[in-house]
Amino acid sequence: MKVLVSGGAGYIGSHAAKVLRRSGHETVLLDDLRAGHGQAALGAPLVRAATHDRQLVVRTLREYSVEAVMHFAACCYVGESVEQPALYYRNNVAGTLSLAEACVEAGVWNFVLSSTAATYGQPEVNPIGEDTPRSPVNPYGRTKVICEDLLTDIAAATRLRPVFLRYFNAAGADPDGELGEDHTPETHIIPNAILAALGRTGGLKIFGGDYDTRDGTCVRDYVHVMDLASAHLKALEFAAGGGKCRAFNLGNGSGFTVKEVVDMVRDVSGREFKVEMVARRAGDPATLVASSDRARRELGWEPRFADLRVIVATAYRWLEAHPSGYGDA
Ligand code: UFG
Repeated sequence: MKVLVSGGAGYIGSHAAKVLRRSGHETVLLDDLRAGHGQAALGAPLVRAATHDRQLVVRTLREYSVEAVMHFAACCYVGESVEQPALYYRNNVAGTLSLAEACVEAGVWNFVLSSTAATYGQPEVNPIGEDTPRSPVNPYGRTKVICEDLLTDIAAATRLRPVFLRYFNAAGADPDGELGEDHTPETHIIPNAILAALGRTGGLKIFGGDYDTRDGTCVRDYVHVMDLASAHLKALEFAAGGGKCRAFNLGNGSGFTVKEVVDMVRDVSGREFKVEMVARRAGDPATLVASSDRARRELGWEPRFADLRVIVATAYRWLEAHPSGYGDA
């Protein structure tokens, strides 16, 4: 299939595009390169534009005879969304609406949306199934709920077949070493702990040690970026096979505390680094662990890199080899 990958030069989009091409699909990447990196395109056709540019997107869909869209392009930091909500509504909500309208105009019906565990907020029961009520606690989560809902409504009125993939904590890097995580600023725990281990920052701050968890730090379900990529392939088959408007959680079903992640980074890197316990970060739920039974059952998704050690090791290898991220590629 010919697939337009919005945000295809970003972290998860670039890995998904690589897996798509390796599986015999053709990709055209749509990325304004505000957060993405040209090198992450790995030579695939790249249209440098935002999803808002509807006429350009329609032209691109037609020019490349696109049959499916994977929509990664979005702002995705909880803290930033609290400080700059309008940015999140513009990029995530208006961007998704514009892209969906372009798809309808060009007759592209298969659509896979990057959604998030942040749509659930702070559920009382873990692991979290897809029927858990969506109750986001920050603007980022709210924008993704709106994206899911607007696509559901458009699907009811057109032939659009959207699939929502709700990621838990994406981490790790391409085992081939070609792609990795390069955010400025970096806010995620695994790369931040690794950057501390590599001596590139002054140390790691742990945001809160007084949560109601086994060691007081937050529990998260880390899922390898290549496993997210393979889930997109399965979701594409699901949509193309006529499946309509279905949400799937993507996680491994096991939670690790921040302290356990820090220990794993120490172990994998063989390096000590300074760790400081500081106050909680606003908007952080104590525990988020996925039930991905639906994705396994209905999509036939099987994570291959579920081991936290492998997740950390692949991330470590890429960051160690790229002291300035893609700037060194
Ligand atoms: N953390 C630290 N120090 C850091 C960075 C993070 O202690 O330097 C802690 C956070 O407070 C949190 C945990 O590590 O308890 C994980 O934080 P991340 O920033 O790595 O990830 P989040 O769980 O906040 O968010 C990620 C994505 C969201 C997505 C969410 C779903 O960034 O887009 O996972 O679980 F919605």
